[in-house]
Amino acid sequence: MCYAIPGKVIELKKNIAVIDYFGEKRNVLNEFLEIKVGDYVYAQGGILLNHVEQEKAEEILNFWEKRFFELKEVDKNLSSIEKVEASPNLLEILQKVNLNQELTTKDMQDILALTSNQELELLYKSANSIRQKEHDNACCVHGIIEFSNYCKENCFYCGIRKDKNITRYRMTVAEIITAAKKAVHDHGFKALVLQSGEDYDFDEEKLTTIVTEIRKLNVLIFLSLGQRSKHLYQKLYQAGARAALLRFETSNEQIFNEIRPGANLKDRIQLIKDIKEMGYVIATGFIMGLPKETSNDIINNILLTKSLGPDMHSFGPLIPTTGTPLETQNKPSKDLVLKTIALTRFIDRKSKILVTTALETLDKDARRQGLLAGANSLMINATPKHNAELYSIYDNKAGVTDNLQETIKDTVDLLYSIGRAPTDLGI
Ligand code: 5AD
Ligand code: SF4
Repeated sequence: MCYAIPGKVIELKKNIAVIDYFGEKRNVLNEFLEIKVGDYVYAQGGILLNHVEQEKAEEILNFWEKRFFELKEVDKNLSSIEKVEASPNLLEILQKVNLNQELTTKDMQDILALTSNQELELLYKSANSIRQKEHDNACCVHGIIEFSNYCKENCFYCGIRKDKNITRYRMTVAEIITAAKKAVHDHGFKALVLQSGEDYDFDEEKLTTIVTEIRKLNVLIFLSLGQRSKHLYQKLYQAGARAALLRFETSNEQIFNEIRPGANLKDRIQLIKDIKEMGYVIATGFIMGLPKETSNDIINNILLTKSLGPDMHSFGPLIPTTGTPLETQNKPSKDLVLKTIALTRFIDRKSKILVTTALETLDKDARRQGLLAGANSLMINATPKHNAELYSIYDNKAGVTDNLQETIKDTVDLLYSIGRAPTDLGI
């Protein structure tokens, strides 16, 4: 199964290659390959990853050509707005969105406060329509390997926090590389997220070996290792990692201090900035539904994410988890999360928005609903099941599977049903 279709190099300008996908052009960064005009290549996250032999590329493109345009048609139909019934206030806000004008804080608050089903439907459709105009029907599907559930931190919301008595595991370096090879060779993933708690047993040497080996598979490596040192992120960039996922968790310093004892929000934000500065593609965001959070905090969270210049927004609802200090906290409603996705799409039209596993955990159909409310990115858990079950950051985590092929098929079927192509066409 391919998650990225090959593109044809049509122009080279220094380290930028212009790639053509059935007439659509994308600029991608080329650091790793010797290529010439006319070559077929795979790109992911705006980075050129590998050559594809002409014969193989043409075979894949033949299979895709008809489907490529059919899916776009389905997507266009689903994102077009015919019926417009809403309060004058909402219509005015949506008009601003259509004209690409900045929303006021009150506009954003009004969006988060919507309750009528009819208005919510219009809101989600409007966000979906902006997503369609800005990103077309591409939807990235990244694989995730959760390689260690050891963590030195004690975040109040998290099911693998240091003080929680759970069975801990560390995959060996060989096991991690094997899981990555399987994800790439057997399942076709072109981008892999390597995630763990803050586990210092994975030191520079071990992580460098892992990144160097996985880089040989020509995939985009996303690090999700927590608040590790700037130096480590630099070394792993040199080893070939090009993307990093690190949420600031909340922009509200008081809430941050209460739920992340010993940690410091400014340092965390600075690290995200440093990582971006190093050249990493970044995904960042927050957790919704923390104690004392208001809708203003949610708005500030979206604005802070945008100001960090992410390739992807990653935010999801708190899933209160047994045995953690927040086990009795109420979880945010699915609609609040969908409204936040829609609002994020209005505020940051160009970035990707991820439907998180936490949202999928909240509601089985949330994946589809999130994608129809402005999101355009998904993750599939590629961790061996016996480990994934222990990576219990929250209760009943969705997507833990011993049949990855079936999960991929379900995901691709869902994407096709709403006209999305499981492919990343670059930046
Ligand atoms: N519910 C939802 N998300 C959680 N995370 C940790 N614990 C929970 C929970 N109980 C999120 C954090 C972290 C990401 C890896 O998982 O935001 O950044
Ligand atoms: Fe560790 Fe991350 Fe969980 Fe915090 S949220 S305890 S840093 S795994």
